[in-house]
Amino acid sequence: MIQPHGGVLINRVDEELPVNDENLIVELDNISFSDLELIAIGAYSPLEGFMGENDYRSVVREMRLSSGLPWSIPITLPVSNEVAKNIHYGETINLVKDGIVYGVMTVKDLFMPDKTEEAKQVFKTADLNHPGVRKLFDRPEVYLGGPVTLVKRPTNDEFAGYYLVPTATRAMFEKLGWNTIVGFQTRNPVHRAHEYLQKCALEMVDGLFLNPLVGETKADDIPSDVRMRSYKILLKHYYPSDRVFLSVFPAAMRYAGPREAIFHALVRKNYGCTHFIVGRDHAGVGNYYGSYDAQKIFSIFSQEEIGIQTIFFENSYYCRKCENMASSRTCPHGKEHHVSLSGTKVRAMLQNGEMPPKEFSRPEVAKILIEGMQQQSLFRSGMVANDGK
Ligand code: ADX
Repeated sequence: MIQPHGGVLINRVDEELPVNDENLIVELDNISFSDLELIAIGAYSPLEGFMGENDYRSVVREMRLSSGLPWSIPITLPVSNEVAKNIHYGETINLVKDGIVYGVMTVKDLFMPDKTEEAKQVFKTADLNHPGVRKLFDRPEVYLGGPVTLVKRPTNDEFAGYYLVPTATRAMFEKLGWNTIVGFQTRNPVHRAHEYLQKCALEMVDGLFLNPLVGETKADDIPSDVRMRSYKILLKHYYPSDRVFLSVFPAAMRYAGPREAIFHALVRKNYGCTHFIVGRDHAGVGNYYGSYDAQKIFSIFSQEEIGIQTIFFENSYYCRKCENMASSRTCPHGKEHHVSLSGTKVRAMLQNGEMPPKEFSRPEVAKILIEGMQQQSLFRSGMVANDGK
C-alpha cells in the first residue's frame, strides 16, 4: 500500500472527547466545515489542523509546508475581527456548524493574511470574477491556526454507502486485491471524454477509484446528488463492476487549476491511490489557466516528493472520422469532425430537456441530468418543496 503524504495517516477523530460548552464558539462556513472533517479523517495528511502562519506563508509562496513537504492549497480557518479579538493563544475553541459542536481546536496561531498575495499566488489572479478568489475575499479577515479534533461526525446520509474515510478506502483496495489504483477527480457528470480517460487508465492499472468532489461548488455546477445518480447508472451499464470503486470526496472546490491539481493528487494518495489522472484544464474555470498548466506544474516537484504517479491526458473528444474517442495524440482529423461542446452549451441543452449527442454523453446519463435540471428549476420557481415532492 502506498505511503500517505508525509508517511503517517492522520486520525483526529475522537467522538468520546468531552467538550466544554463554556468554550468560545467559532462558526464554520461550508469550506472550513468540510476541511475540519477532511483533516480529521486523514484525507489531508500530514495536516493535523488549520494552518498556522508559518505553514500558510510557506504554502502560499513556496507550495511547501514549513517542513519542506509539498502542499499547494492553504487550509485556513477565517474568522471576523470581532470573533478574533476575544480569542487567546492556547485557548480551546468549539467549532460549530448550525448550532452543533463538531470539533475543537487549540488556538496556536492567529494572524492577518495578505489575501491579495494569496489570490495571486494560489489562483494566479486577484480578479474577483474568479469564483475561488471571490470566495477568498468574501471569507472573514483573520486566520486561526491549530490542531483540531473532530468530536462529532457530520451526517453524510445523502451519500450513504458511498462515503468512505481513507483508512476504509485503503482497506477496500486491499480487499479487492488491487495493487495499482487510479484516482479520478471530478466535479462534473462523467461524459464520454471522462470515461475515455478512465478506461485508458484502466487498461494499465488494477482499479479505478471514481472519487467525485461533493463539497461546495459554484452555483452553476451540477449538484452532487444528481451527479451521484448519473455515476451509478453509468457504472452499472458501461463499467466492469469489479474494477471500479465509487466513493465521494467531501471537499469544497477551489477552482485553483494547477495548484488544485497537486492538492487533488496528494489527497488521493492519502486515500490509497497509486495513480492520478490529470486531463485538460484540471480544476480550471473560465480562461484563467492554460489547458495544460495543471500538468506542467508537477514538474516543479520530484516524483519521490509527490509519491503518486500522474497520468496526463490531452483534450479528448469523439471523432466522427475515427468513429472513436480520441485526442490530438491519436487522431489526424480536423476540428470539424470532432464532437466537443462547451459546458455552457451542454447546460443549456440539458435545461431545455434536449439530449446532447450520444458521442458526448451516454443517453442514460443525459436522461438523469435532464431530470435533475428540471427538478432544480422547479425548486427555483418554488413549485416543489426541497424534499423533491
Ligand atoms: S475538475 O474541476 O474536477 O477538474 P472535470 O470534472 O470536468 O473538472 O474534470 C475531471 C478530470 O477530467 C480533470 O482531470 C480534467 O482535466 C479531465 N477532463 C475533463 N474533460 C476533459 C476532456 N475533454 N479531455 C481531457 N481531459 C478532460
